[in-house]
Amino acid sequence: MTDLYAVIGNPIGHTKSPLIHAMFAEATGQDLAYVAIEGPVGGFAARVDRFRREGGRGLNVTVPFKLDASTYATDLSERARLAGAVNAMKFEGTRARGENFDGLGLVNDIQRNLGYPIAGKRILLLGAGGAARGAILPLIGETPAAFVIANRTPDKAGALAAEFSAHGEIAGMGNGDLAGLPPFDCVVNATSASLMGVSPPVPPASFLSGGLAYDMVYGKGLTPFLELARFAGAGRLADGVGMLVEQAAEAFAWWRGVRPETGPVIERLTVPLG
Ligand code: ATR
Repeated sequence: MTDLYAVIGNPIGHTKSPLIHAMFAEATGQDLAYVAIEGPVGGFAARVDRFRREGGRGLNVTVPFKLDASTYATDLSERARLAGAVNAMKFEGTRARGENFDGLGLVNDIQRNLGYPIAGKRILLLGAGGAARGAILPLIGETPAAFVIANRTPDKAGALAAEFSAHGEIAGMGNGDLAGLPPFDCVVNATSASLMGVSPPVPPASFLSGGLAYDMVYGKGLTPFLELARFAGAGRLADGVGMLVEQAAEAFAWWRGVRPETGPVIERLTVPLG
């Protein structure tokens, strides 16, 4: 029998996950079906129960259900627990395992695909919401020389930095406080500002000439953040398409025990930046 997987979110119309997993399945010769489910807001658990009764083996979880999924899970990985969110689930009998591969997907994209090692570099993470939180542990695990979280609301960045301080040296501050600091080799935009067509306020001097500017959104071309980075002299601009495909590859490997190649899928989904 063909194994069943799905992505659940709301809305879900524009999801690329079924295409990504279909390409992975074809390339690795895995017999599986992968569909998109528009989950009812407030009815996540009942919809997942139904999916499991219908034979569902695993799920990707997207907005707005990542917290519901972490409550639903019977077993949480440390990554998922610290991220405070679940983006992938695996069902084994009565167990529902919760994982979070978003941050790992980001780190793999930056290091393997874009060729920017994080060790010894100065890293700036913009934003202090769910997307930023999920990226902290994987980024700091690569031992950057400096790791700064900056946010529009400074207190939220400070609280996040304090929460993760046991895992490495982290500074949290407001965007305005960046002005006095040396530039960063890599600036990651984990705010939702690009979705509103604006850039978070970053001083141009925060971008190291020739460094990497990474926007977690994908498919939006040259976002205002990436435009600012280009103007400021960043050498390499990237959107989140690679992160999306890399986190999908981690989930696929977790479910199926085979790691698919990501290059051809990233290439297929890439929208030129400008
Ligand atoms: P997500 O799950 O995508 O991280 P979120 O938890 O709502 O979404 O967090 C959104 C993040 O984007 C926050 O850090 C938010 O800043 P505040 O904490 O000050 O609200 C940031 N953000 C959203 N719009 C922004 C904008 N126009 N400029 C700068 N930061 C913005």
